[in-house]
Amino acid sequence: MNNTLIIGAGNLGSNIAYGFIGVSDEKRPMQKVYIYDTNKKKEEQFEQYEKNIIFVKNLSLVLKKSKIIILAIKPKDFKDVCEKIKECINKDAIVLSVMAGIKISSLKKELPHNTKFVRLMTNLNIQVFQGITAIYANNKVKNVDKKRIETFWSALGEVYWLKSESKINDFTALIGSGPAYFIYFCECLVNIYKNFGLSKKDATLFVHKLMIGTAFLTDPYFSDIKYNQAIKKIASKGGTTEEALKILQKGQFASILNKSIKAAYEKAKSLDGK
Ligand SMILES: NC(=O)c1ccc[n+]([C@@H]2O[C@H](COP(=O)([O-])OP(=O)(O)OC[C@H]3O[C@@H](n4cnc5c(N)ncnc54)[C@H](OP(=O)(O)O)[C@@H]3O)[C@@H](O)[C@H]2O)c1
Repeated sequence: MNNTLIIGAGNLGSNIAYGFIGVSDEKRPMQKVYIYDTNKKKEEQFEQYEKNIIFVKNLSLVLKKSKIIILAIKPKDFKDVCEKIKECINKDAIVLSVMAGIKISSLKKELPHNTKFVRLMTNLNIQVFQGITAIYANNKVKNVDKKRIETFWSALGEVYWLKSESKINDFTALIGSGPAYFIYFCECLVNIYKNFGLSKKDATLFVHKLMIGTAFLTDPYFSDIKYNQAIKKIASKGGTTEEALKILQKGQFASILNKSIKAAYEKAKSLDGK
């Protein structure tokens, strides 16, 4: 009874599965992971990993043998999924929800009373082992299980334990949605580069290089560089960069970003019960 089952083979669920099989080492021997989705077409994407990622056909059978069940479905679908799994869920199972917004108290109402719950907020960067995962587990979850959960997720990037469940909403806005903020910024840059006459291919490559290079240059693991100091090295007084930054500041870029992240936070808070 040690299976791990992921329910929902979408953007996040499938990346969790790829991460799961990609992190084998001495501490984490290669394991099998089971994944279930109502959309049977999702099976195709796992064909080349058939020995390690098993697309579930008989859900109740796998449920009975699963210790860890990861709910990677959209918040709107959680009641349907709970209805489907509640009869067969193992009494020792721990349900890990990566869903935005849905509180443990809401999950509890739908599943047997002895089920243990952990909430996580992560992001798609786990696919390249650069994720950030915030985890909240209440005192019903044993330390040994917390350790096991941490061991897995820390192989996919940074792990940050939360003391209160409500903080998951902060991490949903900051971290879960986080990659999209960067990608949107890159998309804007690519379009501007194209307006300057670059091909889409070159523009995309150059923006990508800018992102990677800047990430390395400002990597807090390797130097204690401060962002404002790093900017000063580029934006010399009276120079071109300063001119560009003035426009960003005048246009209240920081305030717009702040507003948009707060909107994501408010949305996360409102998802429960919908
Ligand atoms: N994507 C991210 O970057 C991200 C980051 C952090 C957290 N999350 C959270 O992760 C969860 C999943 O997000 P996602 O982007 O991966 O969504 P998604 O791509 O829509 O994946 C959800 C999958 O679940 C399937 N599904 C729907 N109802 C089901 C059911 N009753 N039983 C089994 N499978 C069912 C969907 O099939 P259909 O397509 O046929 O509906 C879809 O394949 C969300 O709750 C979100 O809040 C996502």
